[in-house]
Amino acid sequence: MLARLREALFMRFENKVVIVTGAAAGIGLATCRRFASEGARVVAVDLQSSNLNGVTSELAAYGQDVLLFEADCSDSEQVRAYVDAAVEEFGQVDYLFNNAGIEGTVADIVEYPEEVFNRVLEVNVRGVWLGIKHASQAMMLTGGGAIVNTASSAGLRGASGMSAYIASKHAVLGLTKTAALELGPKAIRVNAVCPSPIETRMMRSIESGFGGEQAEIVRKELASRNPLSRYGEPSEVASLVAFLCSEDASYINGGIYTVDGGATAGH
Ligand SMILES: NC(=O)c1ccc[n+]([C@@H]2O[C@H](COP(=O)([O-])OP(=O)(O)OC[C@H]3O[C@@H](n4cnc5c(N)ncnc54)[C@H](O)[C@@H]3O)[C@@H](O)[C@H]2O)c1
Repeated sequence: MLARLREALFMRFENKVVIVTGAAAGIGLATCRRFASEGARVVAVDLQSSNLNGVTSELAAYGQDVLLFEADCSDSEQVRAYVDAAVEEFGQVDYLFNNAGIEGTVADIVEYPEEVFNRVLEVNVRGVWLGIKHASQAMMLTGGGAIVNTASSAGLRGASGMSAYIASKHAVLGLTKTAALELGPKAIRVNAVCPSPIETRMMRSIESGFGGEQAEIVRKELASRNPLSRYGEPSEVASLVAFLCSEDASYINGGIYTVDGGATAGH
């Protein structure tokens, strides 16, 4: 009995298939690990296959099937291709973690390069929109599923110097709510997570964007802005994503969930 309970609690994704974008590093990689550890077959999507090779060795311990797929999530054909590849390899798509994202640069709006603004919106907004568009069609074939979009605390407030990123993450929340309304009747739940700040390459880039050689000071300042006084780990975001995809979250749709140590609690 106890063993059965344990199994039900910790192997929530047996016979399920999850697509993770931005899978080669940071939050995406930690989420691949979490899903594989609970029995899912994982389709790991990222820009460069050379980076993706590390995913195989990271997940080897769990003995689950993994499909590596090189794609730019802002390109419609490539998004369609990663969904088709998932169906061809594993027969179905149950979950999409729409997570790939870029930070752009740090500059005030008057100085912000237009091409960087465009690229941030392409990856962070168009990429999420395309993922919902194509993966939801595959989910409908097998009766439903769940999508989790990675927004950010940057989707909940402004921040000087980060206009493109802030705009993109606000847009992800709008897309999440709209997709939840459109896809709920098809048994596809859509939710968003708002992490901040998490120990990944992206934060190193933002710290040096604000601080240059003083990046370490910026890091301490950012960590001190939440009541837990630390950065989060990618695995702490992965836990929330796994919960939102699981049956435990069967009535949760169109929700916006912070995972930020309480950083936005006082706003
Ligand atoms: N780290 C944080 O503190 C934090 C906070 C809030 C939100 N986020 C969001 O979490 C997500 C993951 O960020 P991370 O911190 O793990 O960053 P990261 O840079 O470590 O990982 C991002 C991954 O996405 C991939 N990627 C980038 N552009 C892509 C594209 N066009 N197509 C496919 N893959 C692409 C990269 O190659 C990389 O492997 C992003 O959406 C980011 O905005 C991060």
